[in-house]
Amino acid sequence: MAAVRFDGVSKVYGKDSRALSDFSLDVEDGEFVVLVGPSGCGKSTTLRVLAGLEEATSGRVYIDGMDVTDETPSKRDIAMVFQNYALYPHMTVFDNMAFSLKMRKLPGEEIKRSVNETANILGISEYLERKPKELSGGQRQRVALGRAIVRNPKVFLFDEPLSNLDAKLRVQMRNELARLHSQLKATMIYVTHDQAEAMTLGDRIVVLKDGYIQQVAPPLEVYNNPCNRFVAGFIGSPAMNFFKAEVAGSAIQTVNGSLEIADTIDGAYTLGVRPEDIIVREQGPFNCSVEVVETLGNEKVVIGVTESGEQLTARCSPDIDIHPGGNLEFGIDMNKIHLFAIDGVGRKI
Ligand SMILES: Nc1ncnc2c1ncn2[C@@H]1O[C@H](COP(=O)(O)OP(=O)(O)O)[C@@H](O)[C@H]1O
Ligand SMILES: [Mg+2]
Repeated sequence: MAAVRFDGVSKVYGKDSRALSDFSLDVEDGEFVVLVGPSGCGKSTTLRVLAGLEEATSGRVYIDGMDVTDETPSKRDIAMVFQNYALYPHMTVFDNMAFSLKMRKLPGEEIKRSVNETANILGISEYLERKPKELSGGQRQRVALGRAIVRNPKVFLFDEPLSNLDAKLRVQMRNELARLHSQLKATMIYVTHDQAEAMTLGDRIVVLKDGYIQQVAPPLEVYNNPCNRFVAGFIGSPAMNFFKAEVAGSAIQTVNGSLEIADTIDGAYTLGVRPEDIIVREQGPFNCSVEVVETLGNEKVVIGVTESGEQLTARCSPDIDIHPGGNLEFGIDMNKIHLFAIDGVGRKI
């Protein structure tokens, strides 16, 4: 196991395809860090540079305190698990898992023990003689995981490993990964575009946009104190509501009404309110016309439009009687609001 350090890493593909800019991050030994951001923001590039599959254009990469920037991938002792499993189709599960150990010329008995032990942990012992095509997607992903685990690498890298699985299996595998991490106590860096995966798996989350780090913090910190409007809108589902606001002294003036705050600040802002911080009330002070009601059993998600034409999403009790075409009166939990300056930088008040 090992700590990982990125020190000002940038990656430019070809002449001017800039994928990663001045990326600096310290991952502790045994930590589970999740890189999250929209497609194309540089997540895979970050992993590939760490694994040595891509050369950094500038900056240095360290594993266990050693500068590995110029080392070949095989010297870095890293195992990577991909979305598409990348199993050898003509080999059995056993041989897929044993492959890297055979390459290292470990004794046969040791290989057998190691593969069997890992297969046991992952619940795939009964499939060891099958070929990948005789397995379901979830089972194949377990084999890919197993192949990484038997190597006992310094660092595990995961590049959207659950994206090909159906929703239910994804949640199950997510839980298994979390369990595996606490069992192996290994350093893991996990990439996903799915904010729910990031929230549930990471000791810390790194939010990326256009190759730039936006925020690095534990999941709840990112959720409760997003550093800017991008992070606020990206983390959390349904996404945070944004309203235009004018702040003068201790009053926030929105098109729909005004709110009092403790701080005194002036200027044009965007007011951010999470759907669960919209409080449905008999009498406002705000209201919107309801367009869609999603009944989810444990809650209702109401989507509406305010008088000023701004969209609103609220989460409320399933018992509330509300229908499309109706009117929703609501207040806002003032302890939970966010203000974002026009340049997108946030402040919690
Ligand atoms: N081999 C490549 N050549 C040129 N551009 C690339 C290459 N690989 C990735 N890119 C570009 O770099 C950016 C980041 O890509 P990537 O790291 O794969 O993003 P993500 O994994 O977050 O979806 C994207 O704009 C992508 O088009
Ligand atoms: Mg990718």
